[in-house]
Amino acid sequence: MRVIEAKDYADLSRKAANVISAQVILKPNSVLGLATGSTPIGTYKQLIDWYNKGDIDFSMTKSINLDEYVGLDGTNDQSYRYFMDNNFFDHINIKKENTFVPSGVANDMEAECVRYDKLIADMGGIDIQLLGIGHDGHIGFNEPGAAFEKTTHLVTLDERTIEANARFFASKDEVPKRAITMGIKSIMQARKLLLIANGPDKKEIVQKAINGPVTPLIPASILQFHPDLTVIYCFN
Ligand code: PGA
Repeated sequence: MRVIEAKDYADLSRKAANVISAQVILKPNSVLGLATGSTPIGTYKQLIDWYNKGDIDFSMTKSINLDEYVGLDGTNDQSYRYFMDNNFFDHINIKKENTFVPSGVANDMEAECVRYDKLIADMGGIDIQLLGIGHDGHIGFNEPGAAFEKTTHLVTLDERTIEANARFFASKDEVPKRAITMGIKSIMQARKLLLIANGPDKKEIVQKAINGPVTPLIPASILQFHPDLTVIYCFN
């Protein structure tokens, strides 16, 4: 595990973007596992900037996202598909048909879970997975539980997650209560992992996740077992 302390959020974003940029330069047809949330926004901005300068070419790159709210389609401005288009894909030359986010509005959500796992396998797995971390230790929407959920599955969001995400909605009541998320197995099978955490409120959970016992009560703690994990944090 590599643990890198960033000076501030801009530094964290540049460092994370450098890691992703190196991946795409070294392997233009990489499969990037991507994440939503406020933490990766600066990383995406930096990558867009370097793309505009001609430093990175995403034309052969594919992406696969961690999760989506159940009940929101891609036109809903709180959906993760909308977030990814708006914060990243619409500003670079990745082909939209090569970008994948689970559907939150499939008729059969169980079948969507199976389809998503097959999609990851058919893409040959994930080269690098970008991860944020929730205050409860979730990665994607793998919430604390009795066991690590291996494959893509449906979850009921924790109260803490709903509260944290309410800032993006008109009110807490509008936050969807359910989500579809990639499982721990798919995340752990990614060839590289890049966890980013920003802010003093993330200090305690990051320390527990990377130094504490491995337990499904802190889903991110499983990452300690990954052979190629980089953690970049700024707790200022
Ligand atoms: P945040 O979310 O980047 O908005 O803090 C992280 C997460 O919940 O995974």
